[in-house]
Amino acid sequence: MEEVVEVPQSLAQQRRPILTGNSDIAQGTHIPLILPEINPLAHQRISVGYPEMDRVLGGGLVAGSLTLVGGEPGIGKSTLLLQVSGAIAENSGPVLYVSGEESIEQVKMRAERLDITSERLYLLAAIELDVIAEALKRLKPSLVVVDSIQTVLASHLTSAPGSISQVRECTLQLMQLAKSTHTPIFIIGHVTKEGTVAGPKALEHIADAVLYLEGERYHTYRLLRGVKNRFGATHEVGVFEMHGEGLLEVANPSAVFLADRATEATGSVVVVSMEGTRPLLVEVQALVTPSNFGNARCNTNGIEYNRLLMLLAVLTKRVGLAVGNHDVYANVVGGFTLEEPAIDLGVAAAIASSYREKHIPADMVLIGEVGLSGELRAVSRLPLRVREAAKLGFKRCIVPSAGKGAQLRAELEHAGLPADFKVIPSSTLAVALEIALH
Ligand code: TYD
Ligand code: MG
Repeated sequence: MEEVVEVPQSLAQQRRPILTGNSDIAQGTHIPLILPEINPLAHQRISVGYPEMDRVLGGGLVAGSLTLVGGEPGIGKSTLLLQVSGAIAENSGPVLYVSGEESIEQVKMRAERLDITSERLYLLAAIELDVIAEALKRLKPSLVVVDSIQTVLASHLTSAPGSISQVRECTLQLMQLAKSTHTPIFIIGHVTKEGTVAGPKALEHIADAVLYLEGERYHTYRLLRGVKNRFGATHEVGVFEMHGEGLLEVANPSAVFLADRATEATGSVVVVSMEGTRPLLVEVQALVTPSNFGNARCNTNGIEYNRLLMLLAVLTKRVGLAVGNHDVYANVVGGFTLEEPAIDLGVAAAIASSYREKHIPADMVLIGEVGLSGELRAVSRLPLRVREAAKLGFKRCIVPSAGKGAQLRAELEHAGLPADFKVIPSSTLAVALEIALH
């Protein structure tokens, strides 16, 4: 059953013959080896040409890795990976871009728009897995992109492309191909709002790394979010912006998101959320209005609904804010979704600001988790967050004092803040609001 696959000469010299088959052990022989005998994978990474994406991958692309890029149709997956293909073809070696959705003429048209001209970028319109494997073995590319996994077909299965069994089998086979030939492979997978059965979720456990491209269709920002990575940290986020000439990196997203902030409006606040290892400053807005007919409504965009209800309950009970008969709208600017509890204080302050018609100072950021007793709870990486706020020109920051006292001050001093930056430790939500809205 097992056949020997040809591998690039340099690799063949370093390793034993590489076997493929239906076994899980895709490389090496089937003889168990003791730990010291095993050569570690040289974690040589190649840059995909975009530092924002390299970071999400954990520092670049690893040889023989299978990376799944998921996202809603039309969000920009093909655009991103065609740009990456262009960059790798330019800088590293030949790239095979397999399109099962568009004709090669269509892909060529897109490449022209994106100003990709590399002579080492090979386009192939194919859906059969065998054809893809054949092209890979012949071309020995530095990268393969399969656009999309929902169109690929393993001919020994009778089910339709896109069905769960096809998508799984094809992903497994592409994984083996990646491992046995040491070629990094990207597969694109569509998700729909309804969450299709055979979408990327069903493949996450197979792939080495899983990235999602997110954003709202009508916003130009796109977030590339790492949710799984066998070669690096997860939860890293890369920020891009969709332009006429493709996706451009946004190197300093906080500055961009805060650029058109209306500082005169009530209900606006800036929070600091850790997205992976990077602190991100984002504006949160709230609008509180008396409700009609006693039917209070609550609407959120980018904040978890239940978290908002909890904050409203704490504001009512612990701060004495009578928001009961009011409609409350909360919105994260820029189409972001924030999940960290560290934004609680900011969201609660935005609601209180709108309710009381009082501004939060434009040069202030608020950081802290809110507990059910109305206490402010400590958050992780506080010095990093505060420093980022200072870097962007903010002058004041309310943080949880959370019983740390002197230690907190020392930590923050260590963060190297400018002399005129004021850190205001606060123990409860009520006290923090007193300071922010006085
Ligand atoms: P696409 O990469 O085809 O999305 P996906 O592969 O995730 O389905 O992106 C489609 C959208 O991106 C399309 O609506 C047009 C837009 N777009 C631009 O705005 N600028 C560009 O340079 C390109 C190529 C696409
Ligand atoms: Mg596409």
